[in-house]
Amino acid sequence: MAGRYTDEQIDEVRNAVDLVEIASRYVRLKKSGSGYVGCCPFHKEKTPSFHIDPDKQLYHCFGCGAGGSVFQFVMSAEGLDFPDAVKLLADSAGVRLPDLAGDGGEDRYRRKRDIYAMNKDAARYFRDCLFSDEGAEARAYFQRRGLTSKTVASFGLGYSPKGWDGLLRHLAGKGYPRDMIAEAGLCVHSDRGHTFDRFRGRVMFPIFDVRGNLIGFAGRIMGGEGAKYVNSPESIVYDKGKNLFALNLARKSRRGYYILVEGYMDVISLHQAGIDCAVAGCGTALTEAQARLLARGNTVYLCYDMDEAGKKARDRAFEIFKGLDARLRVITIPDGKDADEFVRKYGGGEFEKLLSGASSVTGNRVDDLLARYDTDDVSQKVELINEAAALFAGIQNAVEREAYIRDLSAKTGISFEAIASEVRKAGGRLRKKEVADDVRKSVSTLRPAREGPSGGRRESAERRLLGLIGADAALYAKIADNLREELFSEGIHRDIFRKIVEIYKDGSDDAERRLLEAYRGREDELAAVLVKTDDPQSAAKAAGDYINVIEDEILKERISGAEKAGDLALLAELLKNNRKAGM
Ligand code: CTP
Ligand code: MN
Repeated sequence: MAGRYTDEQIDEVRNAVDLVEIASRYVRLKKSGSGYVGCCPFHKEKTPSFHIDPDKQLYHCFGCGAGGSVFQFVMSAEGLDFPDAVKLLADSAGVRLPDLAGDGGEDRYRRKRDIYAMNKDAARYFRDCLFSDEGAEARAYFQRRGLTSKTVASFGLGYSPKGWDGLLRHLAGKGYPRDMIAEAGLCVHSDRGHTFDRFRGRVMFPIFDVRGNLIGFAGRIMGGEGAKYVNSPESIVYDKGKNLFALNLARKSRRGYYILVEGYMDVISLHQAGIDCAVAGCGTALTEAQARLLARGNTVYLCYDMDEAGKKARDRAFEIFKGLDARLRVITIPDGKDADEFVRKYGGGEFEKLLSGASSVTGNRVDDLLARYDTDDVSQKVELINEAAALFAGIQNAVEREAYIRDLSAKTGISFEAIASEVRKAGGRLRKKEVADDVRKSVSTLRPAREGPSGGRRESAERRLLGLIGADAALYAKIADNLREELFSEGIHRDIFRKIVEIYKDGSDDAERRLLEAYRGREDELAAVLVKTDDPQSAAKAAGDYINVIEDEILKERISGAEKAGDLALLAELLKNNRKAGM
């Protein structure tokens, strides 16, 4: 286990740096009121929703929900863990920190930095080999696969020569210790105790992390016998589940979306064709951490092979992306080709057409069903509709659900009504009709909750209300009678509310500062509350409005709870209150 920095050390770093200065290395910031605003570096957006509060040294993005202190900022922006973020900031601010006692007392951060540098030297070596006499076959290979020399250079491709220890000797000659070469996975040990190069006689693909650190390699065979790919093992710098090939490039793309493909060659061909937002996994199945890197409010196109393995991968991706804030689209490449073959044959322009014709996840699954069942056969038709109904019943949006039903009706010749009725059954809605109608009417007159990464209407009202009372002791005193714990959702909001009450009870009137102290290291949880977009004209009026919104949403939740539970008495009672409240 690596050690950790003390709170004093962390505070020393915190006090030595300025979030505005650090963030402006990544984002163009504009002064706005008492703070700064810019386009969020953590998700793609055109209108700025990334805010910094310089006094509190906190940021929050109202678009994607990212937020926190300068440490969280650097962790996200640079893909670092907490100790490395502290270390990076300390170095840039000239604060000296002791080495963390890791295994063997080594400095983890420095070790990683050394391996990045060594990997770079290895990549240079592979590149030099590619352009040497030995590299003729590899050069011909890249050419055969349609890669230009510009592409070869921009991806840093290379060739590992056939000998046993060319790289080992090269790196040792540069002074890299053997154990470090082994730790980075560049060499392997035989049973007989010999050490030789891991990559031999292969074309080489360097793999970078999101910041452009060289973390590993993949080596592809050019023919003959052996594994198609040999890959660097995981190491202190290479976590396959947390990195994506070419994400460092794709993140800078202006396209505003990502395309997830299966192979390194798919990525490279797409980039060469000008589609510079393509990424791929590192030879392992998609993980949630990878999906998170892509989600962040973006559209993500899945471009998997159409074989069984590809479909499995796609379904797995659906599951993983489910809870994340991303719009998924599925690209189907005709003739069973992969992205690489397709762009090489038809060009980038045709691939763009596939993008615009990409189907939604549900649409893609319906296509699967249509291909699987024979719609001329009655019993198969029934099966098909059953499966489709189960799929559609899960769609929250009624307009969207209807569109799918209509589409399927057109494709199968089964009436809209028949399918819709199966969907209703699948949804398990077996309530008495007149009650359901009554509830539906009443509920639909309530303003709909706004869905979004920053939460629904209630959550955002809670957040702003907390922000107001946390900033203003006088306001709190004035409206304290109208505030009760239950107004705030259980979890972080209620916790913050309790804390604020406790702070004011103690006689302190600087709740914000005390909150920051109480949430040291967890500023990401506070940022959404404490970072404000504007200075409200009348805090008291705004607070009153927020309380109304919350009460309104609480009532709405109770109505829908009673509706689901089929508790008619409670329902009638709630609806009466609802009308009384004039909604
Ligand atoms: N892969 C791997 N090891 C293998 C085969 C595949 O790590 N033995 C991973 C690689 O990340 C590869 C991806 O799975 O890029 C997709 O595999 P595949 O489609 O077979 O390879 P491509 O990269 O498309 O290679 P090519 O087009 O050159 O056949
Ligand atoms: Mn391929």
